[in-house]
Amino acid sequence: MSPKFSLDPFEGQYAHRTSNMLSSEIRDLLSVTARPDIISLAGGLPYTQALSPEIILRTVRAVLEEDCAASLQYGPTDGYAPLKHDLMRVMGAEGTPCFPEDIMITNGAQQGLELIAKVFINPGDSIITEAPSYVGALNSFLSYQPRIHSIPLDEQGLRTDLLEEKLGELAREGSRAKFIYVVPNFHNPAGVTMSRERRFRLLELAHRHDCLVLEDNPYGLLRFEGDPEPSLRSLDEGRVIYLGTLSKIFAAGMRIGWVAAPHPILDKLLLAKQSADLCSSTFTQMVAHRYFAGEDWLGQVEQLKEIYRGRRDAMLEALEEHLEGIARWTRPQGGLFVWVTLPAFIKAPEMLAAAIDAKVAFVPGTGFFPYRGGENSMRLNFSYADEDTIREGIKRLSKVIKRELSLARAFGHDLDPLPEKGGPDGMTGG
Ligand SMILES: Cc1ncc(COP(=O)(O)O)c(C=O)c1O
Repeated sequence: MSPKFSLDPFEGQYAHRTSNMLSSEIRDLLSVTARPDIISLAGGLPYTQALSPEIILRTVRAVLEEDCAASLQYGPTDGYAPLKHDLMRVMGAEGTPCFPEDIMITNGAQQGLELIAKVFINPGDSIITEAPSYVGALNSFLSYQPRIHSIPLDEQGLRTDLLEEKLGELAREGSRAKFIYVVPNFHNPAGVTMSRERRFRLLELAHRHDCLVLEDNPYGLLRFEGDPEPSLRSLDEGRVIYLGTLSKIFAAGMRIGWVAAPHPILDKLLLAKQSADLCSSTFTQMVAHRYFAGEDWLGQVEQLKEIYRGRRDAMLEALEEHLEGIARWTRPQGGLFVWVTLPAFIKAPEMLAAAIDAKVAFVPGTGFFPYRGGENSMRLNFSYADEDTIREGIKRLSKVIKRELSLARAFGHDLDPLPEKGGPDGMTGG
């Protein structure tokens, strides 16, 4: 085989694990979407403008006035103790019992994912993820060179029937999955929520096959409608590693997340965090503590939910107006994202350049699969742009899609354009 051509003069020096990291071509293309003339439905940005600068100012001022020196100092690796009490309350607001000693604070949930990958994955180990799955998790996992087995999602979340088959297959090979990674609430990127029945089934299967469950829950408190489902941790504390974050309910820029896990696992994660960064920022942890102890944080979450609900509705209405009968999409009851499935012959990554030309951006579904899948799908974000902008964005996007459709037809694709409901699509065809 001839060596791969590369412009990188350091190509031969990188560790093997870097070759597993997902391609950044799409990221490069999306980097232009910060231009003001482009409507970006691509990012995953929370609407931090909703947080009043006055509140942040008085919170930061109070921290500096009361304990400036301590806030500028190193802190314990497992996190600032008073903030752990606040995080316990945050979990309580979702009905998940937790004690401060069950928690390690991290630099966002993303660091939790990275540390878990470091602590659990040997090259060649099997792990299980949903398909599609959160790209940041896939990237962390892939750099430790596992075999990722992707289990499709549908409107009820993880297809536990297919999970059962996969776990059985692994058992017959004499192996098992180290963990099953799931985003049960308002999935990124799919927007779906795991049903109660499937939560129980997932834990039953994990118990039977003795694997851990990684519950990544950034969006649970952002429910606009319907009744909350129990967290996996609240159903089986001994088998679940829970990841939380303040990024979506307070401020992503604070970079505060946490892991709640059985204590032996927490001990290993603590060693891994020590070598990663010694400790998270004492300053932002103290600011966050002030905020959660002294401000109406739940009122702020309510306000965010109102804004996001309106934006989600605007997106769903615009999709109905412009793409009914042409595409299918999920109807999230919370969170930040809608997943759109296009006719099978449309290749979303190839369509992205045309969309950017039409001044609208989305993330092609392919980025959310570790190996392949999701070619005819895309993730749309509704948390950042306002309602009118979202409507205009969908209008522009629909024109691009319709142009692709008529081009495809001109080249002889006379297939039924829309996949059957429940049939293979970007979610179930991975
Ligand atoms: C499912 C999921 N997990 C983890 C993260 C990382 O969040 P953070 O590191 O900001 O806490 C995100 C961010 O969008 C996410 O969507």
